[in-house]
Amino acid sequence: MAIIGIVAVAQDLAIGKDGKLPWHYTSDLKHFKKTTLGNTIVMGYSTWLSIGKALPKRLNVVMTRTKNIEYQERVLVLRRLEDAIVLSKYINGNMYIIGGSQIYRSFAHVIEKWVVTEIPLTVPDADAFMPADFLEGFTRSGTTEIGEALRVNTYTKNQ
Ligand SMILES: NC(=O)c1ccc[n+]([C@@H]2O[C@H](COP(=O)([O-])OP(=O)(O)OC[C@H]3O[C@@H](n4cnc5c(N)ncnc54)[C@H](OP(=O)(O)O)[C@@H]3O)[C@@H](O)[C@H]2O)c1
Repeated sequence: MAIIGIVAVAQDLAIGKDGKLPWHYTSDLKHFKKTTLGNTIVMGYSTWLSIGKALPKRLNVVMTRTKNIEYQERVLVLRRLEDAIVLSKYINGNMYIIGGSQIYRSFAHVIEKWVVTEIPLTVPDADAFMPADFLEGFTRSGTTEIGEALRVNTYTKNQ
């Protein structure tokens, strides 16, 4: 059981524009679903709004310091990173950190593994990015082709 970052990144490190994903790749959405199903996903409030609903068959954790979300099954609202870390020790399965950019930055120091889809594009006027050094201290541990000219690399934290 691990805390795992999962992200799709363009060649210029862009991950978002105007509160949305700047591309649509069915193969990446399928890969995301297959990877996270049955596990816990953790997202920032902006990403929660962007997805628009709780994703099925997963515990959806939404991080927000200020907002309230009406009760619904499968959704847990947490205010502090520390609470998410406590939760990670008691759940079955992995905790996937699914973004966006603020949340990846907040959780960077506790992420043990990254699952990264390489998007073969650059995104003019993107407004959400990964930090240039987010894979520093990690070593590539696997690569898969998922179709639509996309490759997914996994990176494991160095001991
Ligand atoms: N390419 C990808 O794989 C991918 C994945 C996910 C998202 N995205 C994109 O990324 C963009 C959104 O990223 P973003 O950085 O703007 O927003 P975000 O990280 O999704 O959410 C930011 C919000 O989360 C809350 N938050 C942040 N850090 C927190 C902490 N440590 N503790 C508690 N709450 C915390 C705050 O909510 P409050 O202000 O309510 O307190 C903050 O305003 C969108 O364009 C989205 O489509 C891309």
